[in-house]
Amino acid sequence: MSRCLVVAGLQWGDEGKGKVTDLLGTRADVVARYQGGANAGHTVVVSGRKVVLHQVPSGVLTPTVRCVIGPAVVLDPETLLDEMSSLAAAGHDIVPERLAISRAANLVLPYHKALDRLRESAAGVDRIGTTGRGIGPAYEDMVGRRGVRAADLCDADRLRARLASVLPERNALIRHFGGDALAQDDLMDLLLPVGRTLAPYLADTGAVLSEALGEGRRVLFESAQGTLLDVLHGTYPYVTSSLTTAMAAFPLSGIGVPRDTAVLGILKAYTTRVGGGPFPTEDSGDLGAHLRTRGAEFGATTGRPRRCGALDLPALRFAIRVNGATHLALMKLDVLGGLDRIPVCTAYRAGAQTLHVVHPDRFSDPDLVPVIEEVPGWTEDLRGVRDEDDLPGPAREYLRRIEEALAVPVSLLSLGSDRADTVFRSDLWP
Ligand code: IMP
Repeated sequence: MSRCLVVAGLQWGDEGKGKVTDLLGTRADVVARYQGGANAGHTVVVSGRKVVLHQVPSGVLTPTVRCVIGPAVVLDPETLLDEMSSLAAAGHDIVPERLAISRAANLVLPYHKALDRLRESAAGVDRIGTTGRGIGPAYEDMVGRRGVRAADLCDADRLRARLASVLPERNALIRHFGGDALAQDDLMDLLLPVGRTLAPYLADTGAVLSEALGEGRRVLFESAQGTLLDVLHGTYPYVTSSLTTAMAAFPLSGIGVPRDTAVLGILKAYTTRVGGGPFPTEDSGDLGAHLRTRGAEFGATTGRPRRCGALDLPALRFAIRVNGATHLALMKLDVLGGLDRIPVCTAYRAGAQTLHVVHPDRFSDPDLVPVIEEVPGWTEDLRGVRDEDDLPGPAREYLRRIEEALAVPVSLLSLGSDRADTVFRSDLWP
């Protein structure tokens, strides 16, 4: 048990982190987002009502929680304001005491979104299949030292000077791809009112987190996307442009590693991926269709149908290693219901070699072949089950096999999208 809990995705995102952070967030004091941007879509269902959050941490749904958006999140100011006002309209208290946004967060501006889309169309079949939210170009500008940051919005002269120095080069690129250049005055008109609204929320968020941890408060760090989309450790170049793994939470948030950190790795009972790139256990037949339909596997941000396939244990072992996962949450077990046999990838063969842990770099190797075993399925609907002992035998056996194969305890089991469809097997907070 720990006062600091990091929730990270072990697959290609969409594992159900939104539901988990919403649930565990009810007992947290602070919930912090540390990377990604409006490419993420966290779907949470509270009392039958669906809420999709792109930038505001899902902890916002619990009135006692303070939310933090850290400096390594790329902020889309327009989407952020929309989200804040929809949350306020739905009765959530959106005030600076409840939401702190890093002054140093880089902004996703209209030219980032334009470049993202233009680059993708120019890439043709080689396109990454991005969400089109400008994430890659915004992170390029951050590390290229061309970023416009949240604090720049609050000072008209500073914003004008910043845009004057970075916009001509961005416009040249836009023109190179056949797009229309953006006018600095239009950007100023768009951004200055945003700055006035956001100003009271801007803070040194590292100090907020460090103070909370120092006072012994419970802090939950929520990642976006998943390990296989990590810019360093994922299926490069078919990845997002940020560090998505658990331990990145601390340097990206501007604090040291807290003592007693627990890392909850989130995995779905099968695998999905949106966008391009290798996916060795993908199934384009009946299994994929079953998972997509029954699991409602359509992107929360783009609505795109997700590619679906069997659980990949060797890739999960890799993800557990990279994240240092101490606990697991197994999501969407109910979706497997109705399958006669459930295929699971237990290892890979590469020539004469058998791999029990696989680096995603290898996924494009032509000689890499998944070893698939089939385990018995069940027909019962698992939604409504509140006690693990009430699960059908094959579902209990599936859980047991996963836990044994991954050698990390499953602390939480999700059997449906509602908060109530959850079995807690061990407590994650003190
Ligand atoms: P980008 O993050 O929009 O640049 O997209 C890069 C890759 O990450 C694409 O394959 C996207 O589909 C994928 N991606 C980005 N955000 C998410 C997410 O929240 N869930 C699942 N896939 C994502």
